Amino acid sequence: MKRVLNIGSLNIDRCYDVADFVHAKETVSALGYATNTGGKGLNQSVALARAGAQVSHAGAVGEDGEMLLQVLRDSGVDTGYILRVPGPSGHAIIQIDPRGQNCILIYAGANAALDEAYVDRVLSDFAPGDILLLQNETTSVAYAMEQGKKKGMYVVLNPSPIDAALLEYPIGLADLLILNEVEGAALSGEAEFEAILRRLGEKYPDTAVVLTLGEQGCLYRSGDTVLRQAAFRVQAVDTTAAGDTFTGYFLAGVARGDDPADCLRTASRASSIAVTRKGAAPSIPLRSELAEA
Ligand code: RIB
Repeated sequence: MKRVLNIGSLNIDRCYDVADFVHAKETVSALGYATNTGGKGLNQSVALARAGAQVSHAGAVGEDGEMLLQVLRDSGVDTGYILRVPGPSGHAIIQIDPRGQNCILIYAGANAALDEAYVDRVLSDFAPGDILLLQNETTSVAYAMEQGKKKGMYVVLNPSPIDAALLEYPIGLADLLILNEVEGAALSGEAEFEAILRRLGEKYPDTAVVLTLGEQGCLYRSGDTVLRQAAFRVQAVDTTAAGDTFTGYFLAGVARGDDPADCLRTASRASSIAVTRKGAAPSIPLRSELAEA
């Protein structure tokens, strides 16, 4: 089993059930409210650990971050590298509509505290062949990609959320990209799924790609190998962290040395369970629950 280092965000999610997403000039009343643990980084570490992987999380929380550390500890994630900094943790304002779709506003807070010296310090404890996982909700992501690659780590990028800075990252350095169709379209300039996969293959020939397509399943490409996995049919109540659950479970399979087709199936099953539950980290299933489902 390979070790996984996830340098990623930790957010307090403020979740509002709404009849419809708020539009400009509108004020609407939410139908429900909950505070949950989240952040793409935290969710992916929780998913990795619940899937059975050995994962260390690196990142930063603010003065209100104890609940974020607690959920990681409870899930079996190593939290020894996480900084505590003055000020607020990162947070997200999440609207969830009756179909379980969401829209998310994030504030970086402590997630912006990661500098290059910190990345160097953390990476110095890891070795060639270890897995380095990154998303785009923290600072120093491009630097971490470069240094991780230099060290001979297996670099995995979940290019989410997409922004102008991300388009300048050395994306071709990644050994594996895990992204959804919106992110795939932004990186490839294509709209159609197969064209996205093909174009990403041309742009980043040394990078394997997993393209998640929501209810339409997912696609995988590595060199000449192309795989497709159908989605499991479920009634979604909240799709928040479905992609993070997929990423964590897929990578746990990679860390175990599983076949890519098995990794896709297990990750799809896990994310299909996550969407039937509310919240980000709280919705992520244990591996034992996949067998029961
Ligand atoms: O992917 C879902 C996550 O995105 C939420 O938990 C929120 O914190 C944002 O980071």
